[in-house]
Amino acid sequence: MELITLKTPSMEGKIYVGEDVLAQRLPALTSGQKNFVVTDENVFALYPDLFKTYFSDAKICVLEAGEENKNFQSLYRILEEMTGAGLHRTSRLFAVGGGVIGDIGGLAAALYMRGISCVQIPTTLLAQVDSSVGGKTAVDLGGVKNVVGAFYQPQEVLVDPRFLKTLPQREIKCGLGEIVKYAALSDRIFDLLQGNEKRYAELDFLTALITACIEHKARVVERDEKETGERRSLNVGHTTGHAIELSSGLSHGESVLYGMALETQMAMEYGVCEKAYGEELMKIVRSALAVEPLSAPDFSNIAEDAKKARSDKKNSDDGKIKMAVAKAKNEWTTFALPYEEYVSALVRAARK
Ligand code: NAD
Ligand code: GLY
Repeated sequence: MELITLKTPSMEGKIYVGEDVLAQRLPALTSGQKNFVVTDENVFALYPDLFKTYFSDAKICVLEAGEENKNFQSLYRILEEMTGAGLHRTSRLFAVGGGVIGDIGGLAAALYMRGISCVQIPTTLLAQVDSSVGGKTAVDLGGVKNVVGAFYQPQEVLVDPRFLKTLPQREIKCGLGEIVKYAALSDRIFDLLQGNEKRYAELDFLTALITACIEHKARVVERDEKETGERRSLNVGHTTGHAIELSSGLSHGESVLYGMALETQMAMEYGVCEKAYGEELMKIVRSALAVEPLSAPDFSNIAEDAKKARSDKKNSDDGKIKMAVAKAKNEWTTFALPYEEYVSALVRAARK
């Protein structure tokens, strides 16, 4: 098992990656206090032994699966059940699931008695490479993604790649959305992906990618936990990706893939991204988009969809749409366009 540490002013978090992480860490982490588990119906049904073995004494809150449940109603239910279970400041919350469960469970841990210990057990590729690490927690509200949340670091993140064996292929593709984002930021991940599209379903290959992405993210978050600078790089593809996600109903990861494709093309058109590098990055993005099942989003209304980009947290009040984009190998930059120009550029990119 590999150990990656993530040290912020509030916490020295530990991230373990490997097939033995649950057996190695859960006996100690579940003893000595009251435990509370947040999971979703799919994970709960797929892994009965996990819940029986480690969480037989814990209160388990099973939510309906899906982004539409990442809302205040679910958060309220979790907090109500935590109160009903008589949890204390010393109790511990385990978020066992994909990014939806990690985000909402993390937020409940941050809010309950002003913060109790949180352990993330990510079960999707997207959650393993990205969302379980770094302490961003949130729910959606009023059609805006992640608009209510907190930075709240998990004490430990336990990443067992074997969860990926039950993951539908579409969810592997969603995880590739965030992995491709890391390829735009790190040589190591770019080189791992380049020309290796045949290995996207191999567990060993995915495990190497998980470790590389977490190591990259941990170092970025250590330098800029609250996203005042460098952490903005982790939003590559996300401004347009969030707009696509909210208007198309595609999942987060797939939307980020399309967001990467469109924003990289826009950045190349404006000379913000080096053309030769941008073309190589686009090959990687396209190889991920080619993973089955294929989706064919309708971009004929992209000008309308773009309105959603205005509500994105990354934008300020100056009327400009801000994107984090790849510039060259290992280099990223902020690319801002006035709203009307952003829409025109997006429409041109979507036609390509
Ligand atoms: P998800 O949590 O909805 O999981 C996707 C689906 O996979 C669900 O139906 C779930 O039940 C199922 N599932 C989970 N584990 C499984 C397994 N092992 N086998 C079979 N099915 C399984 O979605 P996601 O893609 O994991 O996460 C997306 C969310 O993450 C979005 O809300 C996004 O905003 C958030 N996110 C947060 C951060 C962050 O830094 N906090 C970063 C990226 C994304
Ligand atoms: N997924 C972006 C971040 O954690 O900052």
